Amino acid sequence: SLFAGGPRPLAGRKAIVTSGPTHEPIDPVRYIANRSSGKQGHAIAAALARLGADVTLVSGPVTIPDPAGVKVIRVERAEEMRDAVLSALPADVAVMVAAVADWRVASAAGYKIKKKPGEAPPPLQLAENPDILKTVGHHADRPTLVVGFAAETENVADNGRSKLERKGADYILANDVSPATGIMGGDRNRVKLISAAGNDDWPDMDKDAVAEKLAALIAAELERKERG
Ligand code: CTP
Ligand code: CA
Repeated sequence: SLFAGGPRPLAGRKAIVTSGPTHEPIDPVRYIANRSSGKQGHAIAAALARLGADVTLVSGPVTIPDPAGVKVIRVERAEEMRDAVLSALPADVAVMVAAVADWRVASAAGYKIKKKPGEAPPPLQLAENPDILKTVGHHADRPTLVVGFAAETENVADNGRSKLERKGADYILANDVSPATGIMGGDRNRVKLISAAGNDDWPDMDKDAVAEKLAALIAAELERKERG
């Protein structure tokens, strides 16, 4: 393959990665979405594949290219992303990087909603989307390792740790995505690895370097768990 020659500690392992935003339709031409370039999730899928994993990347709408050596399933809505992730189980590791829209429009219009002069804007009734990470973290077929992200603008460590516990994850990579950090949409990331073992501050790195470091950690941890 493209990457033959390097060590492949994840050969024979299956990985599921979510990436990008989800788009929740309001009507056929409008949607609600989160901000996400897909750069970090795609980089993680590529890094796991380089270590030999069989990777299924479930991606929301992004403009970046598909990573090499990865099976890509494209979805639009959170419910589609959840269905694609559950269909890809079982797996050894799941890394949920997608910025899933927390709410969808309860009943999207099948036609384009028109502005009517003098009328109030349409009230949008929202429904909560499924929490994909939490579903996988508590699943009967739970992967050996479940990893999530926590994009925060304040109380990064505390919010990250409560997500670790609530969602049943082994690791949460928490980051401060306040606009001044430039992380959203940029090529760099600064994360705090949160686990039962404690918190570990990773330095400011390229998103590809964060992906490499996480993939190496996943390989070491799967190996360690296997040895018991
Ligand atoms: N996540 C998910 N499905 C959702 C919401 C979040 O899989 N419906 C995952 C994200 O991919 C990420 C982690 O959960 O790995 C944390 O996402 P985040 O939006 O920070 O957490 P929420 O639980 O939605 O909390 P809030 O947005 O209120 O901070
Ligand atoms: Ca959220």
